Amino acid sequence: MTTTDTTTPAAEAPPRGGEIVCEDVVRIFSADGIEVQALQGLNLHVAAGDLVAIVGASGSGKSTLLTILSGLDTPTAGKASVAGTDLLTMRGRARVNYQRHTVGFVWQQTSRNLLPYLTALENVCLPMSLAGTASVPHAEHLLRLLGVEHCRDRKPTEMSGGEQQRVAIAVAVANSPKVLLADEPTGELDEATSVEVLETMRAVNAELGVTVLIVTHDPTVSEHVRRTVQIRDGRTSTEVLRRRETDEHGQEQHIAEEFAVLDKVGRMQLPHDFVDALELKQRVRLALEPDHVGVWRDTTDDPKPTDQGEAAPSGASNDGSDDANRAEPSERPEPEGTR
Ligand SMILES: Nc1ncnc2c1ncn2[C@@H]1O[C@H](COP(=O)(O)OP(=O)(O)OP(=O)(O)O)[C@@H](O)[C@H]1O
Ligand SMILES: [Mg+2]
Repeated sequence: MTTTDTTTPAAEAPPRGGEIVCEDVVRIFSADGIEVQALQGLNLHVAAGDLVAIVGASGSGKSTLLTILSGLDTPTAGKASVAGTDLLTMRGRARVNYQRHTVGFVWQQTSRNLLPYLTALENVCLPMSLAGTASVPHAEHLLRLLGVEHCRDRKPTEMSGGEQQRVAIAVAVANSPKVLLADEPTGELDEATSVEVLETMRAVNAELGVTVLIVTHDPTVSEHVRRTVQIRDGRTSTEVLRRRETDEHGQEQHIAEEFAVLDKVGRMQLPHDFVDALELKQRVRLALEPDHVGVWRDTTDDPKPTDQGEAAPSGASNDGSDDANRAEPSERPEPEGTR
């Protein structure tokens, strides 16, 4: 799928600031006296108009993040803002206005997105009516844009799962929100229908300029979006950026590169497979090289060879110091996977 180059400069560095800004976001749930840290200092910046997928294992904190961004929940600590609205200090009327005008939401359960007793057109008109701006032509335009104009007068039970999700997207963008959030919008759909819905998200992003954040388990999602952010243990850990390049034969190529996410104080997570491959534990040595940073296993406690060629007890050294372990980093073999 990708190269795993974590040191190549980003094709487009993530913007500081932007439409969605999360800095050191923490969300702790308390249930029966037990605390669960769903988000553990999560950092995410998304530029206006971007289309970003969030992926990660079950329980990694994806839905917690989306629920906070949708204004339905508040972080325990940190900074979070969407389109300039501070999500930690937002209260009462401001919260209602935020949910009505700034964000649109699509849930995984098709039945949760649409009212069963209204037609597709009536469902799309409903949020506009609540905002006092109902417009049938605008609702019809959105149904056309999403390729479901044929469902105009059908109720949800008369539509397929994919059609229901596309109508749900029309409902979510009816009040022209700045940001569209979708939590597993393809979770109940088969593969082909999932592709259709993801492509519809892309069309909405391109046509309406709305910033889109999609949470998904779908491993193929990175083929449909420019940027895929992986959450691990409540933090953003890696990102895959896709760009197009034209090769020497004039053929367009899609290049996908994986990057480690660096927070503003310089912290990053090493991928599990790098850690396992080099048996990295607790401490590592770092070395600044002209064009990269070397990460070395800490060998301080490794048995050292004696004069007789036998391993000395852990921590001992021939000359009474551990300098033998501190060869210049540039003289060491370069660990695979750290470049
Ligand atoms: N209301 C809650 N009360 C207690 N714990 C919660 C609550 N909501 C989420 N959690 C816990 O927070 C962690 C993150 O949950 P979250 O729903 O964000 O994960 P997720 O990445 O969306 O997982 P999935 O892919 O299964 O949907 C989990 O350990 C979960 O059990
Ligand atoms: Mg979830």
